[in-house]
Amino acid sequence: MRGESLADALAAQEAAWHERPAVRHLYEGWYRQVVVRLSSKPGPTIELGSGIGRFNEFWPDVTLTDVEPTASTNVVVDAVALPFEDQSAANLVLFDVFHHLADPARFFDEATRTLIPGGRVVIVDPYCSPVSYVAYRWLHDERTDLAGPGLEIDKEIASNPRESNQARATLVFFRQQQDYGARWPGLPIVERRRFSFVAYPLSGGFTGRQLAPCFLRRPLDVLERVALRELAHDVDHPRQQPQQQRARLLLRDE
Ligand SMILES: C[S@@+](CC[C@H](N)C(=O)[O-])C[C@H]1O[C@@H](n2cnc3c(N)ncnc32)[C@H](O)[C@@H]1O
Repeated sequence: MRGESLADALAAQEAAWHERPAVRHLYEGWYRQVVVRLSSKPGPTIELGSGIGRFNEFWPDVTLTDVEPTASTNVVVDAVALPFEDQSAANLVLFDVFHHLADPARFFDEATRTLIPGGRVVIVDPYCSPVSYVAYRWLHDERTDLAGPGLEIDKEIASNPRESNQARATLVFFRQQQDYGARWPGLPIVERRRFSFVAYPLSGGFTGRQLAPCFLRRPLDVLERVALRELAHDVDHPRQQPQQQRARLLLRDE
């Protein structure tokens, strides 16, 4: 979305959504992964940065919001200044939005303030492994800078809302995970799951060439879900307190 208006970026994404069944299939699976991780406590589920707004096809009970009015929503919400009461939201969902935030620390403060006890943050964002880093850095038009700020303010994003850093989740939740744990002990990370090692790159995404024929969809799903399960899943705390707020991460390792 670098350099173009949000409306133009979302219009292109909307067109690709209809034209690319392989991408749609992958997103559908990912949205289901988000749904099963939502807290069932009573209270609203709010998606921040909804973009083309497909999540409510899988979870109709969600309020779609974005930082600007879009074709999918008129509810304008900035993820770092949430206009919600203290302890009022059951879930905050950020799908490919975290790496657009200039000041993630403010988001964690806001999430801690606005979530009800037992509420959750579910974040889906890129993850930089040694392999996917190369793809993100050299084959993708968004910035991917592992030397950039993690929990600190990213000045490039602060000065241009279309900027991003796809390495942000890796910096915050892996390299700075101890700082994170010390600053937000009330919002522990209870799961980090890496996924989409091969299926998304082979689908061509929203703009690239599709490299795998559609009949390989199911085998690729099985490969990612079964064969790579151990590698993909590296944090889990089975004995969580039911009243504790939690953050769950799904990280796209493409
Ligand atoms: C890559 S798009 C993802 C859209 C959608 N969630 C999806 O997965 O298709 C990033 C979205 O984050 C939104 N965004 C950027 N900064 C934001 C902020 N501070 N608060 C809320 N949304 C923000 C953008 O407007 C855009 O819709």
